[in-house]
Amino acid sequence: MAVDFLILGSTGMLGQALMNTLKAENHSVIGLARKNADICIDITDDALLLQTLKAIAPQVIINTVAIVNLSFCEQNPDQSYVYNARVSSVLANYCASESIKYVYISTDHYFSKNKNFKHSENAQVNLCNEYARTKYIGEQLSLTNPNALVIRTNIVGFRYNPDTPTFVEWVINALEKQEKMILFDDFYTSSLDVYSFSKALCILIKKDASGLYNLASSEVSNKNQFISKLAQKLGFSLNNTSIGSMEQSLSEVQRNNSLGLDVSKAEKLLNFNLPKLSDVINNLATEYLNRKKIS
Ligand SMILES: NC(=O)c1ccc[n+]([C@@H]2O[C@H](COP(=O)([O-])OP(=O)(O)OC[C@H]3O[C@@H](n4cnc5c(N)ncnc54)[C@H](OP(=O)(O)O)[C@@H]3O)[C@@H](O)[C@H]2O)c1
Repeated sequence: MAVDFLILGSTGMLGQALMNTLKAENHSVIGLARKNADICIDITDDALLLQTLKAIAPQVIINTVAIVNLSFCEQNPDQSYVYNARVSSVLANYCASESIKYVYISTDHYFSKNKNFKHSENAQVNLCNEYARTKYIGEQLSLTNPNALVIRTNIVGFRYNPDTPTFVEWVINALEKQEKMILFDDFYTSSLDVYSFSKALCILIKKDASGLYNLASSEVSNKNQFISKLAQKLGFSLNNTSIGSMEQSLSEVQRNNSLGLDVSKAEKLLNFNLPKLSDVINNLATEYLNRKKIS
């Protein structure tokens, strides 16, 4: 078997969007996760992973597998290291030896106290928790392969798994049920919907981009702005919401709060502007309403 793309973590929020996007572009693609995927294995088993990669012989491997739960990472640093970092050294080495493309999806969880500043790929990072630490090590291990592509991002979308709702699914559910919600006005991100992200990533791969790239919305917004625009677009009331500060929230994990990314390096190579907040909200609303029509 020889395929164009192998998606590690194909059943996750981003993995599902990548699978759909690549299939729509007529690529041969195989998805991998521990369950409900084309191939079901645990990628932390090195021997099984390498045996599987040799059998599939992909041209491009996109690694979306991660532990994204900040509290879990804090309580389980060893496991976080294995998932978020160590696996990437196995994959980066394999891809270098086979001369194929390796893509590591990283995070934006690296910057603090800069409000809506757009951080470039060279900005100094603040590794304030285990998630940030292990993802950053994952970046460094990936970049030991000079042809690897490492993407920093903030992605939003739907996972369609009621056990682990995404941020957007959690927000829509709370708005639908008119639950009380505090909208942080001091937590900033460049959130990009996973389908816009997937299309742009495919172009970067076709252009054989390598090294570190920010791929996110071209506009930085705070959570109050993001949720208010989403609610307005979907016709939900904001009566039970109030504006507050993330600094005053009771979180057991130290969090960065200025996650804005400067996407000019990616835009230059893509040769188009990445979506603004209003585009991202429109895309999320369209996916939500289309799915609602079907179900
Ligand atoms: N979500 C965000 O807000 C966000 C923001 C910025 C960056 N990112 C980054 O974007 C990437 C994708 O995030 P996501 O939210 O799409 O993740 P996700 O929904 O949690 O998906 C993770 C995927 O990995 C699979 N998986 C987990 N452990 C595995 C293992 N040991 N072996 C094989 N498969 C495994 C999961 O399926 P099974 O559990 O069935 O194995 C699932 O398909 C991550 O690298 C994350 O760090 C996410």
